Amino acid sequence: MGACDGGSNPPRPKRDKMVETTKAKEIEDFVRSRISDEFVDKHILLVVKEAKWLCGFYPEADKEVVETAALLHDVGQTWVGKPPHKTNESNEKHHIVGRKIAETFLPTIGFPAEKIPNVLHCIESHRTRRPPEPETIEAKIVASADNLAHFTGVEFLRENLGEERVLAKLERDLSSKFLLPEALAKAEKEYKKLKKLFQV
Ligand SMILES: [Fe+2]
Ligand SMILES: [Fe+2]
Repeated sequence: MGACDGGSNPPRPKRDKMVETTKAKEIEDFVRSRISDEFVDKHILLVVKEAKWLCGFYPEADKEVVETAALLHDVGQTWVGKPPHKTNESNEKHHIVGRKIAETFLPTIGFPAEKIPNVLHCIESHRTRRPPEPETIEAKIVASADNLAHFTGVEFLRENLGEERVLAKLERDLSSKFLLPEALAKAEKEYKKLKKLFQV
């Protein structure tokens, strides 16, 4: 049992609280059909939660676009896919693959056509170290929420990277990956807590 999990698993987020917009349940079900429930529960829903929290600072942001893109942003991931198949190339391109998957999927559920380009931009730009840069406020929120979820849901990262690499990764993320100041401030706070928990 790890030092920062207190010996018990965190409660699973309540679906009804996490998904609010009209199409969100259909989108979440689609994501669950392609990637593992564990990844959805431990990462995707946390990104949705952080993205909604960030929307509170940016009332001009389209919440339907943000929530949809947060749900779909990693749908192109293969290492958590069904079945999982890790290859460097496919993981490296998951933002591009995910964009294509979303482009095909969203019209099938009647998602507002005029909002689809912005959702696709959020997905293709969510990796802040890879082009393209997030340009819309919705894309900046999704990318920042994705980064922030690594800090607030550190157990997931720890399980996948190993304890010794987690703090080094988070430290790198702090210095280079945050687009929105509110997300950076929260991540810095979490990082301080984690350092204490990891007794570094
Ligand atoms: Fe990603
Ligand atoms: Fe992600």
